[in-house]
Parts: sequence; C-alpha cells; structure tokens
Amino acid sequence: MKNHPRANFPAKPLPHQTILQQLAAKKSGDANWRSGRIWSMVYFINDAHLHLMEEASKLFLSENQLNPLAFQSLLNIERELVGMASGLLHGDEATTGVFTSGGTESIILALYAYREQARRQKRFGSGALEIIVPQSIHPVFEKAAHLLDLKVRKAPVGANFQADVKAMEKLITRRTILLAASAPTYPHGILDPIEEIGAIARKHRLPLHIDACLGGFLLPWVERLGYPVAPWDFRVPEVTSISADWHKFGYGIKGASVILYRDMALMRNQFFVSTDWSGGIYASRALMGSRSGSTLAAAWAAVHALGETGYLDLAKQLMEGCQKLRNQLETLPEIEILGNPCMSALAYRTKQGKPDLFILAEAMENRGWSLDRQHLPDSIHLTLMPHHLPHLDTYISDLKAVLLALKDQPAQLSENAAFYGMAARIPFRNLVKREVLRMLESMHTVPAEKDSVKNQLSWKSETSEVGTEAALEKRAGWKTRLVQRLLYFWSYKKF
Ligand SMILES: Cc1ncc(COP(=O)(O)O)c(C=O)c1O
Repeated sequence: MKNHPRANFPAKPLPHQTILQQLAAKKSGDANWRSGRIWSMVYFINDAHLHLMEEASKLFLSENQLNPLAFQSLLNIERELVGMASGLLHGDEATTGVFTSGGTESIILALYAYREQARRQKRFGSGALEIIVPQSIHPVFEKAAHLLDLKVRKAPVGANFQADVKAMEKLITRRTILLAASAPTYPHGILDPIEEIGAIARKHRLPLHIDACLGGFLLPWVERLGYPVAPWDFRVPEVTSISADWHKFGYGIKGASVILYRDMALMRNQFFVSTDWSGGIYASRALMGSRSGSTLAAAWAAVHALGETGYLDLAKQLMEGCQKLRNQLETLPEIEILGNPCMSALAYRTKQGKPDLFILAEAMENRGWSLDRQHLPDSIHLTLMPHHLPHLDTYISDLKAVLLALKDQPAQLSENAAFYGMAARIPFRNLVKREVLRMLESMHTVPAEKDSVKNQLSWKSETSEVGTEAALEKRAGWKTRLVQRLLYFWSYKKF
C-alpha cells in the first residue's frame, strides 16, 4: 500500500491572487451541484443568499466559539438562535439548547447526555446500555453509539416505511435508556409516528429524541402552509430532545446545527469541566473545541435574511415542486414512491424491479443526472432544493424517455448497472464493511493530485500491504474479489 505522500511547505509565499486561482482550479473535477442535477448535499437558494453567507461569515471568521465569555457577541447570537429554534419547535420557557457543528455533533451530544443521566440513575441493570431506533434512522446514531459504548437495537419499519412502534416496544429491555425516531428519515422523507412512539416512551418511562436534522427547519413551515404534518416536536409531551440542522433547510453554511432539550436538567449532562489543568479551568458545553464564529453568524444572517415569510415562501415553492414531481412520478406505470413522504425529500423505485432500477439509474446518468442510489430496498433518493425546481420537467421527460427506451429495447445489464445491483444485494456484509474500511484508508494512501477521484477510490491499484492482501485474497477467495469489484462501482457515487 502506498503511504500518504509526504510534501513540503511551499518554499516561498505565493501571491494571494494565485492562491485563490489555484484553489478555484482544484474544484474543477467536483460534482457540479449548480447544475441542479445532483439531489443531495448542497442546500442552495440563490447567489444573493450565498453572498450574504460569505459576508456574514467574514465578519466572524477569527472569533472563536470556544470561549463565549471572550466573544460575548457569539453567545448572544447563539442564545437568539436557540430561542428561535425552540419557539419554532414549540419549546416552552424551560426548553434550552446549544449550537453545534452539525447533525452528527447534535446527535452524539444527545446520546452522551442520556448515557450520563442513565449512569447516574443506576436503574438500568448491568451490561451495555441500549437505545432503540427504527431501522431507517440515520447511521450517525450507530456511530454515536459506537463512540459512547451504547448498543443500538433497530426495529424494522412497516410497509409504509414508518417506524413500527410495536416492534420498537418489543425491543425495550431493562437496559434501554432512550427511544429515537426521525422527522423525517433521510432516505425516504418519512415522518415517524412520534405520538405513538411517545406513548410507549411514557409507558416505559423513557426519554425520546427526535432527529429533525433534515426536517427541523422545514416541517414547521410545511405545516403552517396547511399540509398534513402529524405532531412531532415539543408539542408531543414525551419528546425530550430534538436535533435540527441550520445548515440544511435553515439555509446557513455547513457546520451549523442545534441540539434542543426539554430542560436544563437534561442538557447539563453534556457539559464538561476540568478544574485541575495547568492552563486553568476548562469548560465546554458541546463537543467541539475552537471553531470559527462564522457558522453562527451565517445561521443568524440566514434567519434574518429570510424571516418567516421567506421560509414560508421557500417551503411553498418546494412543496409545490415536490407535489408536481410526485404527481408526475405517479402517472408513470413503472414507478412507485416509497411510503408517503411528508416534505420535499422522497424516494422512488420501479414496480417489481421492472425495469431494473440500476439500469434505469445508469440510463439517467448517461443523460447527465446524478442519481442517489439506495438499498434495502433498492430506490432512488431525491431531496428537492430551490435550485432543482427549474429542472423538474426535464428530469421527468428524461425519465419517461428512459422508461420508453427500456420498454422497447429491454436493456442488457451493463457492467455498471449489474455491479450496482449486486452491491446492493450482496449478502456478505462483513466483507463489504472490510472493503469500505480499506477504501477509507485508500483516501490517505494514494496521491490525490495525480489520480481522479474514481481512481483514488479504486481497489484495482496496489492497495495492499503486501502479505496481508494476498493472505486475505487467499482466505476469502472469490467473495473478496467480488466485493472489491462491486464496491469499486458502488462507492464512486456514494463516498
Ligand atoms: C436525518 C438526518 N440526521 C442526521 C444527519 C447527519 O447530519 P450531518 O451530516 O450534518 O452531521 C443527516 C444528514 O443528512 C440527516 O439527514
């Protein structure tokens, strides 16, 4: 395996203009999200808003969120943002929260707070403490649980892709410390039945965390517009905490989320103080240490640039666009939408797998679309953003053309499509996991500049630490080789 290439610092300073040109050039091979043909990752309104984000960020670039006493302005901005999030999500006077760097941090903090509370309460029996989640919840819960030594018990979702409440209840044991659910799920945009999950939380005296990273700053406006949205926020009395991302439908810049708690008694579990460091007393309310004030400033700027009317207007546009897309998809006899999505994220698939979804995806990609392939079950994901709206008609007409072409001329399974399909269905998941881990390593072992992203993520290269690879190949034989080959295709779009 090649080591991470060593490099020297530039011997001399470069002119600022050159540096900026070089940085801009580095982006040339990146996904072109501005095309409106990529359906995730970038939450964009327009250039004027982006410009405001840049200017607001600049104002607080050097200020440090580490010490809110030194930068009182940042604490004030944070308090205002937490207050507005709490107001929007129907918190009360006791509701409180902390600004964080993203959904991942918010969720890790929540799980940490509940774990600390459970450890103190000492009513949970011996062995690993457990959280119960629907299978559809974001994998960051698994990651957080892994970091915090918690066990995740996953309940299957029902036929409508909502959490199966009975299945969740069945998983509750003496060691369960928390229930969690989504508003909505990322893959299918489905709102879990929060009131029903609340009822089992009450019955078993358990807290309930709602992951509204995706929907926290969109669902409230969707509801105000009159779309049906079942109660999911602090109006459900059993909900004890909510994570919601400013950097998604809050339209701030990346690195902005909030974790809200029903009250301070819960939140104080996530605070940390060290009193005997030679550097003095160290206190921290969240996970991160030093970080720029820019993310706070940009979130504050976004809220004030849009105001209620702006968020409502964007929500209206997105919901109307989404409704149009859904209507059009529903007229296509080969296509079905998974469940009943509650906002502007959804997934669709082909009925009975005809035509093959991965062939369809590839044909769409040949027409310049980037498709988010999902599995369990196979589907295509879309999160609609304002910059997608002008492209919906072309998307549908391309989809129709592709379906027609596949009907007239049943496609042969191209190599790519076959591999996507197999990667989704491959049964030996532990091998898949091992290969993905190797792919992560390869990001640090192959020269970035020379190779295309695709080559960087490839396993075809001399990936291996000599003997190890050969030994593994020998042991796992054809399975390993198959997994490597499959992931080569699968990963290109996913990582
Ligand atoms: C529902 C949900 N939860 C959690 C996360 C993780 O958030 P982040 O990527 O900001 O850490 C995401 C990200 O897409 C999400 O959609």
